[in-house]
Parts: sequence; structure tokens; C-alpha cells
Amino acid sequence: MPAVVLVGAQWGDEGKGKATDLLGSRVDAVVKFNGGNNAGHTIVIGSGEQREKYALHLLPSGILTPGCMPIIGNGVVIDPSVLFEEIDGLEARGVDTSALVVSASAHVIAPYNRTIDKITERFLGNSRIGTTGRGIGPTYADKMSRIGIRVQDLFDHDVLHAKVAGALELKNQTLVKIYNRKGFEIDAVVDELASYADRLRPMVADTSLLLSQMLDDDATVVLEAGQATLLDVDHGTYPFVTSSNATAGGACTGSGIPPTRISRVIAVVKAYTTRVGEGPFPTELLDAKGEELRNAGAEFGTTTGRPRRCGWFDAVIARYASRINGVTDFVLTKLDVLTGMDEVPVCVAYDVDGVRHDELPMTQAEFARAVPIYETFPGWHEDISAAQSLEELPRNCRDYVQALEDMSKAPISAIGVGPGRDETIAVRDLLD
Ligand code: GDP
Ligand code: IMO
Ligand code: MG
Repeated sequence: MPAVVLVGAQWGDEGKGKATDLLGSRVDAVVKFNGGNNAGHTIVIGSGEQREKYALHLLPSGILTPGCMPIIGNGVVIDPSVLFEEIDGLEARGVDTSALVVSASAHVIAPYNRTIDKITERFLGNSRIGTTGRGIGPTYADKMSRIGIRVQDLFDHDVLHAKVAGALELKNQTLVKIYNRKGFEIDAVVDELASYADRLRPMVADTSLLLSQMLDDDATVVLEAGQATLLDVDHGTYPFVTSSNATAGGACTGSGIPPTRISRVIAVVKAYTTRVGEGPFPTELLDAKGEELRNAGAEFGTTTGRPRRCGWFDAVIARYASRINGVTDFVLTKLDVLTGMDEVPVCVAYDVDGVRHDELPMTQAEFARAVPIYETFPGWHEDISAAQSLEELPRNCRDYVQALEDMSKAPISAIGVGPGRDETIAVRDLLD
């Protein structure tokens, strides 16, 4: 089996971590190809008394599967102190992290970029993005401006010093003259970054070459996205996006695996919609129904703890995700959260200034004015969390799933009915 891409179809937090974890022991490597510790994936393992919850940020979800090689690809931005903290946290709980491999070409989040992320947000005021404040955007900006620090730079003191000095020449001017803050000392930054080198070095490799060799040997490789389609810097709700390519195309650039080796694209989609941070969200519910979804779905951020904005399923977005990513399979998650609703509306199209749009409008100005056109489905009240097949779902629930599949333009191959590994209906094999 060649490489499989797994992306989020909406605005993140669809349950990508659980979906990747589910693919399990048949996967030889899981590669994180974009983003950094802005991501938060909660994975629940075991059942009953044995139930264990893990929150991952920078590490690929494959880290919890024995025998699976977790790889941090070149497209990721790494905060080394967060990486070590996460490794130590898992090791303390008995998880073996020794197989982790990190790309020599991944960029490093320097301390000044965390500061700049937070200050920029403050200065943007009402136009702020609502970032996670982890320095993600400024680090990707440095990458594109060709003043970024890469993992490989940590191993050469002269190179590191020259790069930090070059970057700070610019950054300190901005911090001091525009933002009226203190600048950063070159030596202090160099010392901090260099202090990570020894521990990082044994994990570092040419991950593109490694993956190419693994694929030649018939390995099964999953390329796992952080964030999601509508947060993609090119295809999302710009500027209210993250600063990387979270869509399937980003899997190639962010890992060094060519498109010709990818055989399947799995998109994870929630049975309703959530969003963290600012930006347009047509089906958002600002009333008691939104609160009900937030509580039923425990919709609070894994990374920042912020309450997630909640709304109904948006089929226009699911169709868009299907097209942009070339989705071959959807994994529908959190269907159980809708249990107990008398009726479940689905947005089937938008009304923008009196004109019906069945696809995303061309401009963000139009999207911000999009009013959902709803089709309402009858709800179900039966507990579905133990269902293991489609046949075990109540009629109304099955009809809802079928309607989402028809509207989303790709088959639903797995359905989540609870956070645990076992709480999943497998409709068709995702890896054969
Ligand atoms: P990710 O960022 O896409 O990996 O998603 P998050 O982990 O941030 O958020 C998804 C949340 O939903 C996590 O707390 C998961 O444990 C939980 N979850 C995943 N799938 C299901 C499901 O089918 N039902 C329920 N009730 N919870 C789920
Ligand atoms: P996972 O992988 C949900 C959002 C932030 C903000 C915007 C930009 O768990 O799905 P950034 O710090 O990336 O510059 O913030 O993107 N955001 C996410 N929202 N899930 C995520 O990751 C997110 N990562 C970033 O809230 O609106
Ligand atoms: Mg998340």
C-alpha cells in the first residue's frame, strides 16, 4: 500500500488524531507534514477502568502505536522545548517514543517568533486572527522570507549564530521601533536554540529519503495533517487561517513524498461544525442550541482550552473539502453527539445577497455574508455509542448519514460514535 493522506475537512478538531490512531498497527509510519504545536489531538485508548486519554500537539498520532514510526516532516515548525516536554510526558506514562524521527529541514520556532505572534495579535485588535500564540505564523513567515532557522542549523554553531543575528537585525527593529518592546539578545537566543542540539541530534534524519526507501519496501505510510481545509493558507478562509498548507497538496511538499505515491485521501469530518478563533462561520449557532452542541461534544480546545464555536453540518464545505483534497473516503466523527436532538438541520447551500450558491462563493467578502439554506432532518433519541454496523443505527440516524454522504461527494467509510478506539463503525477498509 503506498502513502495515504489524512486531512481535516472543516476548521480543525474533527477527530484526526483518533482517526489516525484507528488505522493502527497496520501502519508503518505516520508523518506529520504541516503545522506545529498549534494542533491538539486527543486520543482515547482502552475502555472502562483502563481508559487512558492522551493529548498530542507536536507528535504524530502514530506515536501511540507500537511498531509504528512517528515522523515529523520538513513542513512542520518545531518548538524544541515543547517537543521534549511532550516526549517526557509520554515516556512518564510508559509510551516508548524512541522511534521518533525528525526532519533536518523542518523549521524551528525561535523565541522571538512566539513574542511576535502574541504582539501582532494584540496590535490587530478587532482584526485579530485568534491564533494559538505559539509562534506558528511568524515562523512560517520567516521560512518564506528565507530567514528561518532549521533543525539542521542547530548543529553548526557558526551557521546558527549568523542566522539568528541576521533574523534579529530585522526583528529587533520591529520589536523596539514599532511595538515599543525590548529586543532579543543574539547570544541568549543562540544559546537557547543550541541547548536543544544534543538531545535532538539522534532523532534527526533526511526524512524524505527515509520515506522513499520505506515506500520502495511496500511500507504503509500515513501523512497526517494538522489543522484543516478551511484553515489552509491558500484554500481556507484567508486571512482567518493558519500559515501552512493543511490540505492534501501540503502532504507532498511537507514530507517530500511525490503525488504519484499517494493512493488515497481520507478526510475527517464532524457530524456538525466547530471553529476556534476568529473568522466567518455561516452555520454558527449563537443560541442555546450552540451551547448544547458544545456541552454534548465537549467542544473546548485541546491546545488553548478555548470554547469552540459550534454550528450545524455544512455540506457546501464538505463538498469543497472533497474537491480540494480529492477525497476518496470520509471518516464521519461525533455522530453520537447529535443523539437526542428532535431535528438536525444541514446547510445545503448559501444565500449570498439573494443569489443561491451551491459551491463556496469566489470571494471571502461574499462568504462572510453567506446565509445558510437549511434542509432539516428528523433526529433520533436512541443511544448509538455501542453500534458496530450501519444496520445497528436507528433509521433516522442512518438517513442522516446517507444524506451527508450524498451531499459531500465522497463515501463515508468509517463513523465515530464515541471517543474510544472501539466506538467506531467500520463501513469499508481504509487501507486495503
Ligand atoms: P483533531 O485535532 O482533529 O485530532 O481533534 P481533537 O482531538 O482536537 O478533537 C476531537 C475530540 O473529539 C477529541 O476529544 C476526541 O477524543 C473526540 N472524538 C473523536 N471522535 C469522536 C466521536 O466519534 N465521538 C465523540 N463523542 N468524541 C469523539
Ligand atoms: P488541530 O490540528 C482548530 C486556528 C487558531 C486560529 C488560526 C491561526 O487540532 O485541528 P495559528 O496559531 O495556527 O496561527 O492560528 O488557526 N487553529 C486551529 N483550530 N484546530 C487546530 O488544530 C488549529 N490550529 C490552529 O485557533 O484561528
Ligand atoms: Mg485538535
